[in-house]
Amino acid sequence: MVGIVGLGSYVPEHIVTNADMEKILDTSDGWIRSRSGIVERRFAASEQASSDLAAIAATRALEDAAMSPLDLDLIIVGTNSPDMLYPSTACLLQSRIGATNAAAFDLQSGCPGWIYATTTGVQYIQSGMYRNVLVVGAEVITRMMDPTDRGTYVLFGDGAGAAVLSSVEHGGMKAFELFADGSLAQYLTLPAGGSRRPFSRDVLRERSYYTKMDGQAVFRFSVREISRISKKVLEKAGVPLEEVDWFIPHQANLRIIQSGAQELGIPMDKTVVTIDKYGNSSAASIPVALDKIYREGKLKRGDKVLMVSFGAGMTSGAILMEWSR
Ligand SMILES: CC(C)(COP(=O)(O)OP(=O)(O)OC[C@H]1O[C@@H](n2cnc3c(N)ncnc32)[C@H](O)[C@@H]1OP(=O)(O)O)[C@@H](O)C(=O)NCCC(=O)NCCS
Repeated sequence: MVGIVGLGSYVPEHIVTNADMEKILDTSDGWIRSRSGIVERRFAASEQASSDLAAIAATRALEDAAMSPLDLDLIIVGTNSPDMLYPSTACLLQSRIGATNAAAFDLQSGCPGWIYATTTGVQYIQSGMYRNVLVVGAEVITRMMDPTDRGTYVLFGDGAGAAVLSSVEHGGMKAFELFADGSLAQYLTLPAGGSRRPFSRDVLRERSYYTKMDGQAVFRFSVREISRISKKVLEKAGVPLEEVDWFIPHQANLRIIQSGAQELGIPMDKTVVTIDKYGNSSAASIPVALDKIYREGKLKRGDKVLMVSFGAGMTSGAILMEWSR
């Protein structure tokens, strides 16, 4: 079996409170708390990009695994806010940490980026091609948000989480489920800056270099996907819902988490929540939340962890893992 042998995460030091948001937008602490559950979020420093956050999380994960960067065969970075369109953030990270034996690529699949990256990394190990794979979710996603759009700007935060995957003797990854429906792409897009709409005066005027979101459509999709894809992955793993010890949903909105958990039938005391402190850190949210309960000493060997995410694409993904350490 393949499992996590090292975990690490990093969130930037700069805390942005709802009161800070009130100063720049027509919004209120009451609205943000009641509609999203967010109290504060972290913003990267102006000189930090996603690879910088990823490097700190990766270094912590390697330390936790007691491994050298030279032991890595492959690095996959799930991100929606790469340092630049190319080269990949994974290549920048590889150079930064000195993982000179590792191949490296980015994987872009919306907020489930780390779930997709982990699923992919495990396949390389199970096929026998590689032994040690670093999978990272890293975002400075706040730079993709329009500071004048109260419907998106208040929701997001920056962060990075990393895991070293390798063979394990106990537990490990039990089942995966990935889903995509590109016909719903318009729900959540960053329209400009790619080959369809390169930067231009019009792009600048329309502010289409920032994220556009249909919040209610994303909300409905997310609640439905949490329960649908979770049930599928549990069935694949042959694990009944009652045996799940930890439920780690993507941290997009507390109401989505609560409705999704309720529809699935899992109690909130098994559900990990970080949205109040970190907002939605996109592909980083699940590895950051997993690392949080790990560092707090809550994860025990044999614990069954259900991780589920949803986001731009639209995509969703779920992993059922048995904690092996
Ligand atoms: C964005 C979201 C919080 C909005 O909550 P909602 O209850 O659906 O609110 P609505 O979109 O119906 O907006 C209600 C009103 O609040 C206003 N509003 C939106 N953002 C606001 C803010 N930050 N502060 C105050 N008012 C705000 C809207 O303009 C609207 O006003 P109107 O009725 O005068 O037009 C919610 O839809 C959501 O979280 N969706 C999912 C988004 C997501 O998770 N995206 C990432 C997925 S990975």
